[in-house]
Amino acid sequence: MTIIVTGGAGFIGSNFIFYMLRKHPEYRIVCLDKLTYAGNLSTLAPIMKNPNFRFIKLDICDRENIYNLFKEERPDVVVNFAAESHVDRSIDNPEIFLQTNIIGTSVLMDACRKYGNVRFHQVSTDEVYDDLPLESDLLFTEDTPIHTSSPYSASKASADLLVMAYHRTYGLPVTISRCSNNYGSFQFPEKLIPLMIANALNNKPLPVYGTGLNIRDWLYVEDHCRAIDLIIHKGRVGEVYNVGGHNQGFRMKNSQKYVIID
Ligand SMILES: NC(=O)c1ccc[n+]([C@@H]2O[C@H](COP(=O)([O-])OP(=O)(O)OC[C@H]3O[C@@H](n4cnc5c(N)ncnc54)[C@H](O)[C@@H]3O)[C@@H](O)[C@H]2O)c1
Repeated sequence: MTIIVTGGAGFIGSNFIFYMLRKHPEYRIVCLDKLTYAGNLSTLAPIMKNPNFRFIKLDICDRENIYNLFKEERPDVVVNFAAESHVDRSIDNPEIFLQTNIIGTSVLMDACRKYGNVRFHQVSTDEVYDDLPLESDLLFTEDTPIHTSSPYSASKASADLLVMAYHRTYGLPVTISRCSNNYGSFQFPEKLIPLMIANALNNKPLPVYGTGLNIRDWLYVEDHCRAIDLIIHKGRVGEVYNVGGHNQGFRMKNSQKYVIID
């Protein structure tokens, strides 16, 4: 099996590649990444010489070269991690978020259609559901209405709608996973946990959102990778799967859609 992993030099994508090469050593993994400020090629150094791994520097919006890559590699599955992913940056400069997160997703799905109706998995976010009220015991489910609050979450929600539209309009075999906040190795230091650790080590103030009462659901990155592996092998096409640490505000309602990580 050949899997194209986009955004594989980033936090979750790189963890996913390591996980998949360990779990399925016979698979070919092709990583494409534009190497924005968030991509770090040195993370992938330990596997650069693995004959079942290939890295290519490429923008998911570059239609011509994306088509060339699909023509050459003939993938069975695409897992799309590539995104502009930092909420605060999306408030300062929304345009690149719309370009990469929406247009880039459509280019990849067009390539999937053109080269054999390739299975497409979109890595999305629970931020498409917005926040739950403070001090409530409500939980998100896959049926929670989409309600976005930043250009980042709006771009991810737009991509999700587009993914479902490609499934209904063209019959593209797609799945979507929406996860909560990931933590683990190789995360860019602008994100909460590495930022707090770096600031604490350097005796700098620890920034807290709002009044500090907000609660996040945390998901260990490798558990997320296991869930995606499960979804691309056993998930039902056309479905959305929530993936959470199940500690705050996050629940999978329909038992047939459960992604249980034990
Ligand atoms: N980190 C989290 O807690 C979290 C939570 C929910 C959802 N997600 C989603 O998971 C995915 C991965 O998140 P992450 O935290 O690993 O992000 P990240 O910012 O660490 O990595 C993103 C990667 O995508 C690459 N990239 C950006 N634009 C590109 C383009 N146009 N073409 C090709 N590559 C491009 C970057 O170079 C980088 O390597 C994203 O889609 C994000 O929305 C992340």
